[in-house]
Amino acid sequence: MSLKLSRRQFLGGGLSFTGLCLAGPAWSNTARPSLPIPPLADGTNGEPLDLTIRTGMWSFKPGVMTPTLGINQDYLGPTIRTRRNTELNLNYHNTLTEGVSVHGHGLHVPGNVDGGPQLEMPAGEHWQPTLSIVQPAATCWYHSHTHGKTGTQTYRGLAGMMIIDDDEAVSKELPNRYGLDDLPVIIQDRTFDAAGRLVYSLEDAGEDGWFGDTAVINGALSPVAEVPAGMVRLRILNGANARFYILTFADNRTFHKIASDGGLLEAPVPMTTMEMSPGERCEIIVDLSEDTSAELLTFFEDDIDEEGEGIVSGLVGLVTGPGQSAAPASLLLRVDRTLVAHTVPMPERLATIERPDPEEIRKTREFVLEMDHGESDRAHAGHSGGHGAHAGHGAMTMTINGAVMDMSVINERVERGVWERWRIRSDQGAHPFHVHGCSFLVEQMEGAAVTPDQAGWKDTVVLDDDDWSEFVVRFDHLADEDFPYMYHCHILEHEDQGMMGQFTVTDTTG
Ligand code: C2O
Ligand code: CU
Ligand code: CU
Repeated sequence: MSLKLSRRQFLGGGLSFTGLCLAGPAWSNTARPSLPIPPLADGTNGEPLDLTIRTGMWSFKPGVMTPTLGINQDYLGPTIRTRRNTELNLNYHNTLTEGVSVHGHGLHVPGNVDGGPQLEMPAGEHWQPTLSIVQPAATCWYHSHTHGKTGTQTYRGLAGMMIIDDDEAVSKELPNRYGLDDLPVIIQDRTFDAAGRLVYSLEDAGEDGWFGDTAVINGALSPVAEVPAGMVRLRILNGANARFYILTFADNRTFHKIASDGGLLEAPVPMTTMEMSPGERCEIIVDLSEDTSAELLTFFEDDIDEEGEGIVSGLVGLVTGPGQSAAPASLLLRVDRTLVAHTVPMPERLATIERPDPEEIRKTREFVLEMDHGESDRAHAGHSGGHGAHAGHGAMTMTINGAVMDMSVINERVERGVWERWRIRSDQGAHPFHVHGCSFLVEQMEGAAVTPDQAGWKDTVVLDDDDWSEFVVRFDHLADEDFPYMYHCHILEHEDQGMMGQFTVTDTTG
């Protein structure tokens, strides 16, 4: 079993970065690409947005062209902007030679427009969902959810950010000038072969999923963004297939987390180090009014051991510059004093989060995530039939409550509008557990009380060996047997290998 460190040590601030401060940008500024800002696709007026899924060629590394997939562009897709209480009309066109389904991760929309595996667009076809946006402001995203191919398609580029606005969030006067002081930051990792092509193989993925050896941010290696000398908001998405990241600034500065997956926290939470698992989003505010630059470091969590030595060697690698095998990536925010700055102080209160009373919770469900290595003596012949895609070299059986994903099986039936408690446990390893069609409120994380930065609306929660994570959740939209919702591990290789289940939401569960 591979090392999984105690993530509570990071969250508890057990690691100290003092004494490791970098004097300035680690790479020479000229060597760094600018942060690519995906174009904004404004869907707030209800006009349909054309989203063409296509092949492309993208330069991750200077002078090297890499075959990719993208939406309206060569790699990744536009940032879709929508607003609460409007209709978002999307017109997807799949120009690939294989089927694709595209899921809106974090959206509270019915199952028939959720973009799960049942909604696959065959090659050449269109899909035109109308999404009624009824949820609060949040940073969501959209990505491939094609049955058995989510990992490979997302890795090659089928993903993008989605921003939901609402009047309340706007009234908080947070930085919101897209691409200027409100920046999308999509963190991923990729491996390239000698010809610059992306390397990916579900069959060859390790038990923790597919790890790229090179971190990329919006498709660039350690990019730079020019920002005003004020408050800057980063909407950070861990869009990696499997990698957990530890984020911290090179000067160990305090930043404020203002939002989790499903929207604003009740109040900004000061932090110096933050963990993000695949699928999670965080919005943070960095105050650059007194600075010339700040550098956000993106460490591979699995490179860091409990003594923090990995961080030290990572920093050394960074200081010595690119070309080092283990150099962590970073995003350099370089202040340009000619840009008009957002100087409104951060609000003390951001949102009100209404938790259900204990007596409102009508049902408890338990989910256990397991990885079976095949040599296990546990008989699983009963649920291994019909899943040829999961066979192959080194194949493991990935299950939830003993079952691998089967598109013809509804695993859970949920009643609409009723609060439930979901308790999730991992039998082995760390897994980010994600649920469609909702945001939930975490009550326990890995057996411990939830910390303030995790106490807001979420749709992805981390579990580790043998500890329960628990959340309360209520589903307000319908998902019938033809278009059920999914719950799954957001390590995309685990998902593609079957660590996923289907559930309906109906008005009567009888
Ligand atoms: Cu982001 Cu079902 O996924
Ligand atoms: Cu989702
Ligand atoms: Cu997993």
